[in-house]
Amino acid sequence: MLLDDLTIDVASLGDGDEENTNLKSDVEHLSEALSIKFEELALIREFAERLELGEDIATTCRMLLQELAPCVQAATLAIELFADDEGAWGDEIYVSAEPIEDERIRWVAAAAYRQRERLTGESHENEITISNHLCLDGEVYNAIVVPIHRHHQRLGRMIAIRWVASGEFGTTEADLMRSTSMMLGVHLINQRQYAAMQQMFEGMIGSLVSALDAKDAYTCGHSSRVSELAVLLAKRLGYSDEDQQRIRMAGILHDIGKIGVEDSVLRKPGQLTEDEFAKIKRHPVLGYDILKGIRPFRRILPAVRHHHESWDGSGYPDGLKGEEIPRDAQVLAVADAFDAMTSSRPYRDGMPVQRVLDVFLKGRGTQWAKDVVDELLACPEVLCSV
Ligand SMILES: [Fe+2]
Repeated sequence: MLLDDLTIDVASLGDGDEENTNLKSDVEHLSEALSIKFEELALIREFAERLELGEDIATTCRMLLQELAPCVQAATLAIELFADDEGAWGDEIYVSAEPIEDERIRWVAAAAYRQRERLTGESHENEITISNHLCLDGEVYNAIVVPIHRHHQRLGRMIAIRWVASGEFGTTEADLMRSTSMMLGVHLINQRQYAAMQQMFEGMIGSLVSALDAKDAYTCGHSSRVSELAVLLAKRLGYSDEDQQRIRMAGILHDIGKIGVEDSVLRKPGQLTEDEFAKIKRHPVLGYDILKGIRPFRRILPAVRHHHESWDGSGYPDGLKGEEIPRDAQVLAVADAFDAMTSSRPYRDGMPVQRVLDVFLKGRGTQWAKDVVDELLACPEVLCSV
């Protein structure tokens, strides 16, 4: 619906008698109220579309302030967040428009509450407060303070400040700020829960990797090095940020199936028998089975299962060939082989990087995807270690 649709042609109502004049005035008020509400709705919808979980809270606050400041016509509009118990954010003030010092903003908010308290005899710190004519150091301010909360949790407050000459604040501005604060309150709680879940998830990954490192001390650190190189290659291959995150996680967990391989086989120095090698070769499928029940890991399953496939179909576990091999697994295979060849073990020294690069050149298009090898050979971080 367009704003024009809400506008009523008041002139056509005529002004012949008192009744018509009153009607005209009522319609004018209604029309104005409707257009204000329409503006408020449009603004809220815009905010709702732009709020993103996982985005830095400072960015979110600055975006809200930038959009809202012109609508409430404040000289200074600020969001003050109170520190939370879990440390998701600290005591912070974000300011738009003409910034004034944090202390002065806090003083204006406190003075607004005091002024209202003097009038009513009650504390109003959890309510919207409109206070005009607040004096500080010879300056006179008008202010609105709107609490940001969710249920009974006090999360912060939004403060609008105007010089007294710019006119008093009223309910229109307060309503806009209230709607925005309510949305911000919900977003802050969601954001806090999201951060807690993210932390738990990362802790879970860390525990899995620690368990693997403890089991196979020889290859300790291999997972994180593979992950880092896989991300470097992925960047060069044009992966998006989100896809890079996926391959980073796949790199960290690609060998997690080794948790299910007997210690005597996993830690055996030197040559493995055919039977022992068959046991080692089970680790991609074991890893797949460990991770498949956990929803956020589903997107890395193809890379975990297929990181030992070979371009010519001679790899394992499924003997996939060429483009049948998932792209993440193609990249991971190169990063994994590079780290395995260059790292030292107690029973052998790592190969010199130049020799490793020759092996890749030889296996380009037979063991590994040509374009991934090309990126490895052109990667400055790899070349500088030659
Ligand atoms: Fe592996």
